[in-house]
Amino acid sequence: MPAVVVVGAQWGDEGKGKVVDIFAEHADVIARYQGGNNAGHTLVVGGEKTVLHLVPSGVLHPGKVCVIGNGVVVDPAVLIEEIERLQHRGYLLDDQLLKISDRAHLIMPYHRAIDLARERLRGEDRIGTTGRGIGPTYEDKMARIGIRFADLLDESSFHDLLRNTLAEKNAYIRALLQEEPFAFDAIHEQYSRYRERLAKYVTDVSVYLAQALSKGQRLLLEGGQGTMLDVDHGTYPFVTSSNTVASAACTGVGIPPGRISCVVGIVKAYTTRVGSGPFPTELHDATGEKLRQDGDEFGATTGRPRRCGWFDAVVVRHAVRINGIQGLALTKIDVLTGIDPIRICVAYEYNGQRYEHFPASMQVLRNAQPVYEEHPGWNEPLTSARTIEDLPRNARRYIQRLEELTETPMYLISVGANRNETILLRNPFHS
Ligand code: GDP
Ligand code: IMO
Ligand code: MG
Repeated sequence: MPAVVVVGAQWGDEGKGKVVDIFAEHADVIARYQGGNNAGHTLVVGGEKTVLHLVPSGVLHPGKVCVIGNGVVVDPAVLIEEIERLQHRGYLLDDQLLKISDRAHLIMPYHRAIDLARERLRGEDRIGTTGRGIGPTYEDKMARIGIRFADLLDESSFHDLLRNTLAEKNAYIRALLQEEPFAFDAIHEQYSRYRERLAKYVTDVSVYLAQALSKGQRLLLEGGQGTMLDVDHGTYPFVTSSNTVASAACTGVGIPPGRISCVVGIVKAYTTRVGSGPFPTELHDATGEKLRQDGDEFGATTGRPRRCGWFDAVVVRHAVRINGIQGLALTKIDVLTGIDPIRICVAYEYNGQRYEHFPASMQVLRNAQPVYEEHPGWNEPLTSARTIEDLPRNARRYIQRLEELTETPMYLISVGANRNETILLRNPFHS
């Protein structure tokens, strides 16, 4: 009854979608445990690209069950569109293959409006959110005024909850954000249509997973975002509004910690970040631009150019410790072809002090100078490599050095976006 967690070990977009798609072959059930449609997970199978925002990345494997956990915040319009796009291509035709937690919270139109208006008012200090209403929805969950699928399904509860919440939201939207209030009837009617469309998928996910695990089924848990965007352990306040780390997988789907058998951390062979906030190894030069172009580093959700920089071992050690990462999946090593030398950050320096652990202070982070090691590069394209031995010697040395610095073995090395452009070293369901 193994349960494997796949977690981003940097600032998101590490390639979780690709890795989950590969591990899903060995799983029966694949579940998202937090985040919402701020996530964009890309899968390329047989040259065909699929970008998923809410449906777990196991969906392209026929017969696997996809679960959206209670820890996820769901924009029903986005989910319906995603389901329809997948059904059009022949996936999810059996309604039993998708389950949505009755405890998952709904993103409402006022959440999106508040997210966008706040960012506009913050100006230069904006977080650079995806504008999908993620933060305001989690705020309402914690303030105990959120609306869950269980509430949507009960017509009279939904009516009353929406009426009460909307009064408060409209007062805030009018007075503080100086924007137009929302009409009750329009939202009520729109969400009643969502109820009709989605009710058949709604279930008690914790009960379902407990039964699946006790039958010996294998569970793959897919995180959104990454460790450095975690609201507690990331670069606060430049983070998302949920716990993204592996321990959140338990609360996010309702399984006990003892069920987790393995945690795999996904890392890019370099580092990227979308949105504002500290990024000690960021490159503002031609090498940064080369990484962006060769790595096609443009957001899968918003299309924004991603900020690019060197691999940061301080960040990944932080992620290994907090998540209990047993193995790493290294992606996009092919993008480093032609870069020489390649640098790895091993520590930071600030004010005469050396930092081996990721600091909490914004002041330190903004001024931290990375301490770099240099490694010789290679010019060979890596995309056709299918075993470690197929890689040039300097690429193998670089990978080995990342394993040493993070004290973590590689379970998988990805050499291209396609499913088959992969070197699988260890199956996490067997560890
Ligand atoms: P996620 O949010 O962690 O699932 O990652 P994204 O899908 O947002 O971003 C990763 C991008 O890198 C996607 O466009 C993937 O298709 C692509 N990708 C994943 N692995 C590799 C790889 O090994 N090499 C290359 N060149 N691209 C990759
Ligand atoms: P995946 O799952 C990269 C970033 C946003 C912003 C901050 C807060 O594809 O790795 P939010 O809309 O969540 O309130 O924005 O978090 N962010 C991501 N960056 N990948 C993601 O998801 C992200 N989801 C949110 O850019 O800086
Ligand atoms: Mg992404």
